[in-house]
Amino acid sequence: MSQTTPAAQRRVGHGDLFTDHMISSVWSGPDGWRPTELVPLAPVPTHPGTLGVHYAQVIFEGLKAHRQPDGSIAVFRPWENAHRFQRSARRLAMPELPQEMFIDAIDRLVAADADWLPAGDDELSLYLRPVMYGSEPNLMLRPSDEYRFLLLAFLAGGFFGHRPDPLSVWVSRTHSRAMPGGTGDVKCAANYGPSFMAQREAAAAGCQQVIWLDSAERRWVEEMGGMNLFLVRGAGPGAEVVTPALTGTLLPGVTRDSLLTLAARTGYRVRQEPVSIDQLLADCASGAVTEMFACGTAAVVAPIGVLRDDKGEWTIGDGQPGPTTLALRERLVDVQHGRAPDPDGWLHPVRLPGTAR
Ligand code: COI
Repeated sequence: MSQTTPAAQRRVGHGDLFTDHMISSVWSGPDGWRPTELVPLAPVPTHPGTLGVHYAQVIFEGLKAHRQPDGSIAVFRPWENAHRFQRSARRLAMPELPQEMFIDAIDRLVAADADWLPAGDDELSLYLRPVMYGSEPNLMLRPSDEYRFLLLAFLAGGFFGHRPDPLSVWVSRTHSRAMPGGTGDVKCAANYGPSFMAQREAAAAGCQQVIWLDSAERRWVEEMGGMNLFLVRGAGPGAEVVTPALTGTLLPGVTRDSLLTLAARTGYRVRQEPVSIDQLLADCASGAVTEMFACGTAAVVAPIGVLRDDKGEWTIGDGQPGPTTLALRERLVDVQHGRAPDPDGWLHPVRLPGTAR
């Protein structure tokens, strides 16, 4: 570990404390994927005419490794990310990385940099960032003839800080994240950069995040920033846990899917359905919607306290994290950290050097 201050004592952000190594491989037309290499983390020489940089032929993933009670490390649902990485590759006319190669890359990098992940701190995880881009130096408007796959790892704290206050969220009425027939349901870099301007508008309105509406009618709630959204109707064991249905313009999040499973297993009524913004705001005003939260690998479960647009402000419940939100967060984190049963086999244990595990 190259840092001098113990990581746990610092404010750990998102992608500012990279570990010592990375995994690298290159695909080229005649040869396919070369064997992956574990190498020291270092800049990768990039030709100024690299196709992926100019035409956004770039996909990525995000997943996390967590310490387990016995000191081992397990990665949460990596096969789901491997599968989505292949879907994203197909959508951007890129070669698919075999799922076994994806998992093997994760195993090797986590084993090499395991010391970065301290035990006994729920807030810290090893965030794994696979990325693939068209690396051919050529600017014809066509898919690249060469690709680089990299796997990076960094120590991650809470995306919104340590036990963050509920978020204030701006309902964007002018910008869109995705369109029918576009790339909203895959994880490509081009879904993220264009969101920064709306993010700035949200900040100017005193909000930390943006809610995206569908681009066709500007009527249906889709996502928040780079995360999926949930709302809760009612309270207690009979509460209804609702998330916008996957219409083809939403990213099918691994955390979203995990929470749907855990919520149903806890006994909540679970629904995936279209959520209209007008109904949502009316339900926040009447108190029918009692809680809202966003979820994703980075943010885990992030409570939302307030929705705002150019016409008004709606407080959700009492504006504080609600009991269903907190219960679902705890259930998820407990599985990830090996403190709760894992009946679905979501944990992928990593063999660490010098251990029998
Ligand atoms: C994640 O939640 O891990 C994401 O990839 C979304 C964003 C932080 C990039």
